[in-house]
Amino acid sequence: MRKPVIAGNWKLYKTTSEALELVNELIPLVKNASGVEIVVAPVFTVLSTVNTALKGTNINLAAQDCFWDEQGAYTGEVSSTMLLDAGCSHVIIGHSERRQFFGETDETVNKKNKAALRAGLTILFCIGETLHEREENQTFTVLERQITDGITGITKDELKNVIIAYEPVWAIGTGKTATDDQAQEAHKFIRGVVAKLYDSESAENIRILYGGSVKPENVKGLMAQKDIDGALVGGASLKADSFAHIVRFSE
Ligand code: 13P
Repeated sequence: MRKPVIAGNWKLYKTTSEALELVNELIPLVKNASGVEIVVAPVFTVLSTVNTALKGTNINLAAQDCFWDEQGAYTGEVSSTMLLDAGCSHVIIGHSERRQFFGETDETVNKKNKAALRAGLTILFCIGETLHEREENQTFTVLERQITDGITGITKDELKNVIIAYEPVWAIGTGKTATDDQAQEAHKFIRGVVAKLYDSESAENIRILYGGSVKPENVKGLMAQKDIDGALVGGASLKADSFAHIVRFSE
């Protein structure tokens, strides 16, 4: 049985006071939500403050990126061990916005994935095709390459702390969600790639989240799909009521 994960990626939003307001509103709304792993991912500067506010609650803390070395002369970077120190249990790696705007490649994503796992973090490893790639019928080729290159060198044991997030780039922030069938088709393919790279048990156990314009209105349909184990939510995670609604999709 795979435990569903609902994660909120706050991207470059929320100052300290805004972040506190959001989590303080969210905590009571989701406190009785059981059987679901809840994660929020604020910007680096508010991690410690949000961590204090989340102590004793059922909400986990994630960062939106991390560097692959533990320490050194790397101006501007933050390492996995520093994220643990700030209270994170999870980290998002390889988000398409990082691939698109910050030169992230499958190779750098792989280095970050390995470093984060070895430090003891659970990774939300993001993959997804662009609109152009989908129109060129490259979706499966791109997904297979991103998974294979992204998790190369990761052991079967480490894979237990890997959550894959399938986020078709054309569905992010556009209001265009993949249909339930389109998402299910991609998730099933992804699980098949994991089976090929590891084994059927690992594939059966790995959680695969969908991301891209997930809202209270469409979460139920997505979550009803056999291979969809949760959601990575952007815009709708910035308001406590809409995020709580998504967290409580099964009610
Ligand atoms: P939206 O939910 O705003 O489309 O963002 C999805 C996303 O990128 C989550 O990581």
